[in-house]
Formats: sequence, structure tokens, C-alpha cells
Amino acid sequence: MCGIVGYVGKERCVEVLMQGLGHLEYRGYDSAGLALHEGSGIESIREVGRLENLGRTVAARNGHLSRLRAGIGHTRWATHGRPSQENAHPQVGGEGSVAVVHNGIIENFAELKEELLERGVRFGSETDTEVMAHLLAERIEGNPGEPLREALSGVLGRLEGSFAVAAVSAAEPGVVVAARHQSPLVVGLGNGENFLASAVQALLGETREFLVVENGEVVEVTDASVRIFTQDGEPVEREPFEVDWDAEAVELGIYEDFMMKEIHEQPEALRATLSGRLDAGGGVDLSEMGLDLSGIDRIVVVACGTALHAGLLGKGLIERLARVPVEVAVASEYRYSDPIGDENTLVVAISQSGETTDTLAAVGTARAFGGKVLAVTNTRGSLITREADAVLLTQAGPEICVASTKAFAAQVAVLDLLALNLARVKGTIGEDELLSLGRDLRRAPEKVAATLALLEGKIGDAVELFEDARCSLFLGRGPAFPAALEGALKLKEISYIPSEGYAAGEMKHGPIALVDEQCPVVAILGEGTLREKTLSNVEETAARGANVIAIAREDDPAAERVGRVVLSVPDAPEILRPLVWTVPLQLLAHDVATDRGLDVDKPRNLAKSVTVE
Ligand code: F6R
Repeated sequence: MCGIVGYVGKERCVEVLMQGLGHLEYRGYDSAGLALHEGSGIESIREVGRLENLGRTVAARNGHLSRLRAGIGHTRWATHGRPSQENAHPQVGGEGSVAVVHNGIIENFAELKEELLERGVRFGSETDTEVMAHLLAERIEGNPGEPLREALSGVLGRLEGSFAVAAVSAAEPGVVVAARHQSPLVVGLGNGENFLASAVQALLGETREFLVVENGEVVEVTDASVRIFTQDGEPVEREPFEVDWDAEAVELGIYEDFMMKEIHEQPEALRATLSGRLDAGGGVDLSEMGLDLSGIDRIVVVACGTALHAGLLGKGLIERLARVPVEVAVASEYRYSDPIGDENTLVVAISQSGETTDTLAAVGTARAFGGKVLAVTNTRGSLITREADAVLLTQAGPEICVASTKAFAAQVAVLDLLALNLARVKGTIGEDELLSLGRDLRRAPEKVAATLALLEGKIGDAVELFEDARCSLFLGRGPAFPAALEGALKLKEISYIPSEGYAAGEMKHGPIALVDEQCPVVAILGEGTLREKTLSNVEETAARGANVIAIAREDDPAAERVGRVVLSVPDAPEILRPLVWTVPLQLLAHDVATDRGLDVDKPRNLAKSVTVE
């Protein structure tokens, strides 16, 4: 939430900051701003709304701005104070001589603000960030000659909460400082120039070489140096890491939006995630985890949103194949629970970003009983990778659209691998069957690609059923139930149509009251014994006037019978079906939202990487 970029170096600061913010806009899009070293002062520019508004203001200023060499930028997801010009970042102190951009929440800001007001400081915004700007300005004024990084460290000692912050001061031209406490921050290394950002995506067009800034550290960036310090001022040696993501991965290419691009990248995300972990014969190798799973007798999955739905799919497979009980816990609830577990409990924390505050806190809670923590994340170097005992990276590439699609597919694939691995360790399944399941899993990229091809141009009739929709129900049983939950989440978050995912058999216990012509029912019919049961439930909704969209295997006569519209998917091995069913659900959500003229990549009120509680 909120994106930060910093730059020091050549006469291209504004260009780098604006480009970086463009790649981070998914983190927040209420307002945006820049603070630039200009001569002996700091020039601050802020605009409400999308980044393009800031771009227009910058372009109108023209001329001199394009030649500036150092500054910071911000794109905001409002926490304290509504989206407005006054509440946009940068927030300034010392009559504009100090500027600060911030991602996170300062929990004790009210006390600090009161203290500053008593000293006669005037506030121009409702933000928590502004206290930081004034405290920093006071500190600089009271300690002439103190380096900015030390002044920032001094101020940080007074703050409670979570934050990544970057600051500039007129007293130190050509210097940008930043610090991290719980919210993400990386340094990009260049030649005669250096960069800062909330995420590597911001800088892929500039560099592949990065340094992680750890919690509690302060970094000082100039054109020629990057120096990291502990909060006590001790210098820290840090090895850079290389990022192998392409710059094109953060560009739209032939697509109109990132959601559609990322839906179509699922075959590749699956291929890359399975690669090296599943051999041609179907054998699974997860030795990279370095975890001995033989003593594990219980699993707790902690996650939020879409990652939680991946966890529910993982639970089904792990329990079926490895006969190990799995609890799937909403991270924001689990963190305040009194969890049950011991050293034989494996805690699987799933997070695309690896920075979700609730998931990280849930991991901390699980630590209380001594469980082993396995992180499943898409982000190398993220906070969760450092909190966990072991890591399995999903290889989905950068996910830009706020609504998660390809990361979900990759998470499901990793949990499938984990289930197969655990079943082998536990000896609950014969070797032949395991290898056969592994070979099935290897076909995931091919089956998802075939699903995309089959559905090309076929969503329109289903979209029409949503034209007057007031709400919608997504139904499924067994593994189709988590898929239904995910379908409902996708639709509601980008189209704003209230949508509920329900276990089809549970529908008669309440939600069937919603059903009428304006409440389309999306039914994943599934296969096997549960299919007949699901069909009966769906018939019950059709009998009450529901327009049913059936997700079913190609040429399924029953689907034609119950569905006003059928979205066909290819026949697929059992282990791959949830991945295949999710594709039409993603496409449907996308097309319903675009049909309503909505921006699918940046749904209202949301932001990617939820780094506040
Ligand atoms: C929904 C979505 C969110 C995320 C959730 C967890 O499309 O993207 O529900 O899944 O915020 O995010 P991560 O996986 O980064 O922890």
C-alpha cells in the first residue's frame, strides 16, 4: 500500500520517479506527488487522483524540472485523511525545507501531533505522515551539521507502527535518505545514479541489481554511494541480489490491461513454478525447502484473500493424499487467536507479495507454539522469506493488477507439489499413483492454455446476464467450492457487484433467498459423485428464476440443461480441475467489469500489498 520511489544521479530525476511511480500505481492511486532537490531548496508537487494528473502538472511546469537530479515520489492509498491535495505526499516541514513520503501507519501520531501543536507547529493535513515531516524539520534545525540519515534515525525512535519512509532536506542537496520498519523498501544500484523503491517492479527498466533494506535500518543514497546503517548508526554490509524479471513483465504489451495479460500468463507462471520441482516421470523434488516433514502431524495455512482460497484448495488435496489435518486460517483473525499447535505443526504462510502485514503477524503468532514456518511467496527477498524457516517461491513473475490471477495459479501449483511430497514422505499413497499424479500436474500449463483457447470470444453471453445484476452467487462443492469463493471475490472486487461464494449444498440454508432474475448463479458443476449433487442444487436455483452460468466440461449435456449460458472447459485430470475452472471465472469477472467501463487493474478503495493492518 502506497508506493515510494527515490532517485539521485543524472538530470533525469523526474523521468525516473514518474516511471517508477507508474509501475507502483497498483499500490495506491488516491493521489501522487514528488519532492525534488532544486537549487538550495525543495520543490514539492502534489495532485489528487491518478498519476496522470501529477504527470500533467509536471509537464505544465516543463523546462527546469526535467533537469533535476535528486528527489522522492509517492503514490498514495489513504489511511489517515481522505484523498485530497493537502493529504497527498510529500508532506513537508520546516517551511518546506524538509519533505517526507511514507508507506504505512504511525500509530502514535495523535500524541506526537498534540506535542507538536503545543510547540506551535501548524499542520496542513490530516495525515499521520505530517508529524514525521515536522519532527524531522525540528531535529535538523536543532542539530545543525547532523547528517540527514542521523536526524531521520532520531525521529524514527519516536515512532510506533509500520512504515517505509523516504526524505529529502534542503540542507543536504543530492542526498535521499530512507528507512524501513515492516513496510517494504529496496535500493536499486546504478552507475552514477542510485534508486529507492517499495518494490523492484518500479525499477526494472533501470537496474537488475538490488539491495534489501531490513527492518530498523536507515539508508543514505547519493549518486556515487549507498550506505546502510542500523538505527544506532552502525554501518551495515549488504550483498546485492539480482532480479531475473524482465522489464517487459511490467509493460502491457499487446494487452489492454494487466488483468487480461496476467490471466494469459498463467500457463507460463505454472510452467516456471513447476520447473525443476517435477521431473518428466512425475517425481517431485522439494528438497530446496530443507525441511524434514516426516514428523509433521498438522498443518496450519495462514493467508488473506485469494491466497487463502489457494490454501483451501491445498487443504483438500493434502488431507486427501497425505492424510494430515489442515486448518486454513484467515490471517487477520489468526493473529489474535490463541493458536493450537506444537513443534510438529507446519505453518504454511501464503502471500504473493510476501509483505501482507496480517499474514506476517499470523506467522509471528504461530511461532508462539514452536511450529515450523514455510513461506509460499512470489517475491524474492520479501519480509516473509526472512521470517520463515523455509521458502517455496512461486514463479509467476511480477503481478501488477490488484486482483490476483496468475499468482493464485502458481500458489495452487506449489500446494499441489507440497501435497504430493507430503504423501510420499508419509507413505500414504503408493509410488505409482504418486508418479501418475505428478505427471498429471505437469500438464497444468497445457490444460490452462487449452482452457484459455477454448474460451476465447465466448464470455459475451455470460456478461449479458450481469447487465442488470444486483448480486450474484457462485456455487460449487468439494474442490469447486474454493474455486467458487475465488470467482466471487474476483467479480466483487473489480465489478462491485455483491457476490458470494457458497458451498452449493449450503445454499438452501439462507442464500437461496437472494435468487431471482437479477441474481445470476455461477455454478461449477465439477465431476464425480459431487457433480450430481451440485446439479440438483443448481436446478433448485433455476426453478426460482436464476440465470445460471454453468462451468462444465465440454459437451456436458447436463450443463446445457441447467445453464442459460455454458462456459466450457477442457476435460482435465482431477488435480488440475480447480486451475481450469478458475480461468472462466477470472475472464467473466474481467469482462463484466470492463463492460461496466471500470478500471480492472485499479479497483476502487483497493491496493496491492496490504502493508497495514
Ligand atoms: C484479490 C487479492 C487479494 C490478495 C490478498 C493477499 O484478488 O489479490 O485478496 O490475495 O490481499 O495478498 P498477498 O498474497 O500479497 O498476501
